[in-house]
Amino acid sequence: TVFFRKDYKAPEYSIEKIDLNFQLYDTKTKVTAISCVRRNNKENRSPLILNGENLQLISVKIDGNVLSSSEYILDNTSLTVLTPPAVFELEIVTEIYPQENKALEGLYQSGPIFCTQCEAEGFRKITYYPDRPDILAVFTTRIEADVEKCPVMLSNGNLIETGSVEEGGRHFVVWKDPFPKPCYLFALVAGRLSCVNDEFITSSGRAVDLKIYVEEKNLNKCDHAMVSLKKAMEWDEKTYGLEYDLDTYMIVAVDDFNMGAMENKGLNIFNSKYVLTSPETATDEDYIGVEGVIAHEYFHNWTGNRVTCRDWFQLSLKEGLTVFRDQNFSAEMNSPTVQRIKDVQILRNFQFREDSGPMAHPVRPETYEEINNFYTVTVYNKGAEVVRMVQTLLGREGFRKGMDLYFHRHDGQAVTCDDFIAAMADATGTDLEQFKNWYCQAGTPVLEVSSHWEADSSSFHLTVTQNCPDTPGQKGKNKKPFHIPLALGLMTENGKDLFGKNGCKTEILHLKEQKQTFTFTNIAEKPVVSFLRDFSAPVDVKTFQQDEELAFLMKYDSNLYNRWESATRLSASTILDVVRQLEKGTPIQFNELFFDGVLHSITEKIEDPALLALALELPPETALALQLDSVDPDLLFQGRTIIKRELATRFQNEFLFLYINNQEAGKYRISPEAMGRRRLKNCALSYLMSLNPPQDKFLQLCIDQFSKSANMTDTITALRLISHHPGTTRDALFTDFYRKWEHDSLVMDKWFAIQAMSSHENCLSTVKHLLSDRLFSMENPNKVRALIGAFSSGNHVQFHAINGEGYSFLADMILQLDSINPQIAARLVSPLTNWKRYEKRRQILMKKELERIAKKPGLSPDVSEIVNKSR
Ligand code: ARG
Ligand code: ZN
Repeated sequence: TVFFRKDYKAPEYSIEKIDLNFQLYDTKTKVTAISCVRRNNKENRSPLILNGENLQLISVKIDGNVLSSSEYILDNTSLTVLTPPAVFELEIVTEIYPQENKALEGLYQSGPIFCTQCEAEGFRKITYYPDRPDILAVFTTRIEADVEKCPVMLSNGNLIETGSVEEGGRHFVVWKDPFPKPCYLFALVAGRLSCVNDEFITSSGRAVDLKIYVEEKNLNKCDHAMVSLKKAMEWDEKTYGLEYDLDTYMIVAVDDFNMGAMENKGLNIFNSKYVLTSPETATDEDYIGVEGVIAHEYFHNWTGNRVTCRDWFQLSLKEGLTVFRDQNFSAEMNSPTVQRIKDVQILRNFQFREDSGPMAHPVRPETYEEINNFYTVTVYNKGAEVVRMVQTLLGREGFRKGMDLYFHRHDGQAVTCDDFIAAMADATGTDLEQFKNWYCQAGTPVLEVSSHWEADSSSFHLTVTQNCPDTPGQKGKNKKPFHIPLALGLMTENGKDLFGKNGCKTEILHLKEQKQTFTFTNIAEKPVVSFLRDFSAPVDVKTFQQDEELAFLMKYDSNLYNRWESATRLSASTILDVVRQLEKGTPIQFNELFFDGVLHSITEKIEDPALLALALELPPETALALQLDSVDPDLLFQGRTIIKRELATRFQNEFLFLYINNQEAGKYRISPEAMGRRRLKNCALSYLMSLNPPQDKFLQLCIDQFSKSANMTDTITALRLISHHPGTTRDALFTDFYRKWEHDSLVMDKWFAIQAMSSHENCLSTVKHLLSDRLFSMENPNKVRALIGAFSSGNHVQFHAINGEGYSFLADMILQLDSINPQIAARLVSPLTNWKRYEKRRQILMKKELERIAKKPGLSPDVSEIVNKSR
């Protein structure tokens, strides 16, 4: 079935409250749902249509009377009550089987723990209900289970009653959530869990109990999550005046979870990857990830829960806005420039790719088949960029006014992206009509820039054109121009900024036409353009500057983000240049300006080690591939490797110096500075390890780091670097690591992933072999991502091996997973979808696998939507 945004209709019935009763048993769960239903429309007696899937219906009653089978229609996806009264009580009893639920949607078990995932449409796997976000009801939830197996039983809101049941060894709890909510925010957890407690006093003086529930063995890994939660609560009060609204905030960590985490009201359920940390088991990236996701889910309490989405086409209303909020939080907690670079890397390396492929869709899609396929980098991360542009256009103060008005108007409502923009516009008197094109036009706008300076009139002219490529269902030539905020700096040749109004060196230009010229006067010398500072819009700027200018900006731009931007442009063009030379078979010549720039960066006084590391890390092959018309993955890998080795060869001493000088002084810490030093040190080591032939002394450094380090960042980096050098040493280290960590599932995910990303040509056979490791499981999404996901989307050269075995392996895995967990299967398809970008032989091989997947009888709607749109 295809759904269209334009088909939205307000619901015929509303549900004011629902009382749920869950009776959990070993092999089944009985669910009784009693709802107060009211018809919205006085005149017509339309039937009441309830969604429901994989449910065993036991009985339906209206106002206490059992309905006969002629009074309703039941099929695989719905229950229709034919002629209900205007106001009534509806009682539905169903049986469900969480033990058998491997799709991890609805009520399921993660190990022995019962938990739920209802967003987007999982509640219909729990009971028959109008499963749509614009129906807001007050939920009361009773849970009953075995005392031994489920000592802890949780749901949304406040605990109002507990007790024991007559039936032997069982007990019950009752939770009530006073805030009306859509059913996608419903949650239930039951099992043997331990809990870490803390408290937060809100700005108005209310005490909130904070609880993180984990398996007992993980109690010592919750500190960072708790600290992050308190920081997030404080930040939202300070930044937006938003306070928490219940007496308890609970987080539960489970090992089997399709996504990162879920913002269920008062009861967040998390993938344990985003809760558990300790220096020995979690990397710096993991620490940052936990802080970001904890904040993200917390921020949803206002942007998502108090104000929710009218329909799923509006998903970015809550996700784009909440990502924007968590990005700003993380920027303030850590380094703003590093955070911004990471945001942009996600956009460039993943979202631009999505935008240029067959699954491209607007931030607010017009149509979908399976909504789970639209939890995408476009809806989340491009959506966040759209909100960021609003802030750039309104200024921080204006943006805050807009947010205030948004909550004032829409608290307790289910609304649309238009409502959000209207609040922003009305609060500040800004015209955002043209800006809204960002919500409905897909594709990454391409900007072309030209400039000239007139000595006579001391004026400078900057001409910018915008064009947006074709995307599925939208012709580029029919797209209207976007309203694009361009943050611009002009710099003199000795590194000074020409703009300087009240300390602000950057001006915001408004590009609204397809082509526009901006003129600056009193420009007495030829300026160097620092364009799109801080990446002020999610656009693809065609390089318009000479390498000399880029090298200059890489060294001197006062905007630190743009220094990185120039460095990246220069390294990408240097690599692609080599790739072209390899294609032609001409002798390789290097772009010396790039090497000068790198030498300058590594020998200058280091201001921020993390920024230096980011500038030195070469762009991944997937990002480089976007800049080629017909990708040959072998040449791309070769070209990138040649540049990496050339840098390592020329600057061996400098890298060794960086490695030695950025060792941890004193105690291990997770501060931004300490993380930055580790990143730089490990980046240097990675260069030293790339030398060909390998040098024993550097291999030894790496082995020493592996065996001596007490933190996972250093341990796993060393292991990763060694993974590219097969031999007995490598095998021994991997075996060591396995013995040491086999009891820790999250650590073992890293062990799987590293092997799947080895550039060595025996990689695929290793991966296939690991499928039968006793720690691997197709039913655990983290394991699937670690092994199959890492190989297919993190190992460009081996996945795209010319024998096509990478492709057929992935297709096999997708087919197998499709019957277990369709959501996870669908996410794995993405590396095959961009077949058009690759050279002919690979195109054919990739397409063949898409066809093979499409042929599977009973293919899930999840996989089928993506495969069919891609072939
Ligand atoms: N709302 C969650 C978050 O962004 C994501 C849950 C999506 N889950 C899914 N199965 N589509 O925090
Ligand atoms: Zn979210």
